[in-house]
Amino acid sequence: MKMFNVLVFVLMFISKNVQADPCTSSKLINNVGNRGTRCTSQSPLICDRNGFESGWYVALYKGEYIQMPEQFPNPFTCGTESPIWINGTHPNIENSTKEVSGCVRDSNTCTQTFPIQIKKCSGFYAYNLPYVDLCFRGYCFGNHTCEEKTTTSISAGPEPSTTTTTIPSSDPCLYAATLSNMDKRGSQCSLKDVDYALCDRTLKPGWYKAIDDNVFHNMPTYCVTVASCGTEEPIWLNGSLPKFTDGAVLRKACVRGFDPGDCCKNVIDIYIRNCFTYNVYYLPYTDLCYSAYCFGNRECKKKTDDNLIIEADKTSDSLLFILLGSFGGVMLVTLVVVVIVVKTKSLRIGHSRVDLQNTPPPPYSPPTHGKPAVTVGSTSGNIPLKS
Ligand SMILES: *[C@@H]1O[C@H](CO)[C@@H](O)[C@H](O)[C@H]1NC(C)=O
Ligand SMILES: *[C@@H]1O[C@H](CO)[C@@H](O)[C@H](O)[C@H]1NC(C)=O
Ligand SMILES: *[C@@H]1O[C@H](CO)[C@@H](O)[C@H](O)[C@H]1NC(C)=O
Ligand SMILES: *[C@@H]1O[C@H](CO)[C@@H](O)[C@H](O)[C@H]1NC(C)=O
Repeated sequence: MKMFNVLVFVLMFISKNVQADPCTSSKLINNVGNRGTRCTSQSPLICDRNGFESGWYVALYKGEYIQMPEQFPNPFTCGTESPIWINGTHPNIENSTKEVSGCVRDSNTCTQTFPIQIKKCSGFYAYNLPYVDLCFRGYCFGNHTCEEKTTTSISAGPEPSTTTTTIPSSDPCLYAATLSNMDKRGSQCSLKDVDYALCDRTLKPGWYKAIDDNVFHNMPTYCVTVASCGTEEPIWLNGSLPKFTDGAVLRKACVRGFDPGDCCKNVIDIYIRNCFTYNVYYLPYTDLCYSAYCFGNRECKKKTDDNLIIEADKTSDSLLFILLGSFGGVMLVTLVVVVIVVKTKSLRIGHSRVDLQNTPPPPYSPPTHGKPAVTVGSTSGNIPLKS
C-alpha cells in the first residue's frame, strides 16, 4: 500500500513535468510582425523587459513558424534598438533541446550574452527566452520588413452599455500591492525635509497602489522639481491616466534630471490600470540611486515617533526613560543606516539581473465588453500546437 502511494506520487511528479513540453505549451511571441531583421525605424520600439514574461515561445508570422537569426542583424532593426540574435545553430534532431548564446547587438555584434534554450519540435522551434534587463532590446525573429500599419478597423460606434462589468481574476486591480514610503512621495516633500533620500533601485517590480491614510494618490503629470518627492531625481508621469475600459496601458515616466529644465533625463516604461476610482501602477525598479516615483502633491508627512516623544510625561522618571529610549533609538538608527549603506553599496557594485530581477507584469488583458480586442500580441495567449 505504501509502495502504491509512492508510485502515485512519482507518477504525478512525472506527469507534471511532462505537461511542460515546450512543443505543446509554448506561448506565441507578441509583436512578431515587427521583429524581422528588415524592420527598421519602427515606433514604438520593442522592449522585451516590461510586459514580457520569461518562458518558452514560438514565433508565428503570417501562418508560418519563423526562427531567430543566426547571423547578427544591424542595430535598430527587428523593431527595436538593440536586437537579440543567437550566436550558434539551431538543434537539428527532433525533440532535442540545445543551449546557445543569445547575443545583444548594439554597436558591437555581441555586447552581452546569455543562454537561450531551443527545442526542435516537428516543423518549428520553441525558444526559452528570459526578459531583457534594459530597454530597448528585443528578440529578433525572421527577416521580414515591418508590418504595415493597418488603418484601425474598429468602428467608432456607441460605447457599449456598461451593464455588467466583471473584473477578471488576473486583473491587477485585485492584487496590486501597497507602495511603501508614501509619507515622502508627495511632490511638495522636499529632500531636505527627509532623513534619507528615497531610492526605488530596490523596489520589487510589480503592480502597486499608492494609498496612504485611505486616500489614493496618482503620479503627478507635470514636471516635478529636482530634490522633491523625498529623493534627488523624482519620477513623474509624462502622459495621461487611462479609463477603466482601456485596460493596462503603457506610459512613459520621466526621471527629473539635475540640469535646469532637464525634465526628462531618462524614460521608464510603466503600466497603469484604471480600477474605477483609483489607478494601479506597474513600476519597475530604477536603474540608479537616488531616484524614486512621485505620488500625490503633499508635503512630507511627519513621523509618528516625534509625536510620541512630545506626548510623553515630563516627570523625572519618564525623562530618564526618554534618555534611555533615545540612546537605544540612536543605536538602532545607526545600525539601520549601516545596513542600508552596505546594502546600497553591494547593489551598486552588483548592477546585474542576478541581484534583482525586473520581472514583467503578469499577463493581463482588459475586459472587452463585446468590442473586438484592441490589444495586439498578448503575452499570455497559450496556443494549442499540433505535435
Ligand atoms: C517527439 O515527441 C512527440 C511528443 O512526445 C512525439 O509524438 C514524437 O513522435 C517525437 N518525435 C520523434 C522524432 O521522436
Ligand atoms: C560567437 O561566439 C564565438 C564563440 O564564443 C565568438 O568567438 C564569436 O566572436 C562570436 N561571434 C560574434 C559575431 O560575436
Ligand atoms: C528570408 O528568409 C527566408 C527563409 O529563411 C529565405 O528563404 C529568404 O531568402 C530570406 N530573404 C532575405 C531577403 O534575406
Ligand atoms: C513628454 O512626452 C511627449 C510625447 O512623447 C514629448 O514630446 C515630450 O518631449 C515629453 N516631455 C518631456 C519633458 O520630455
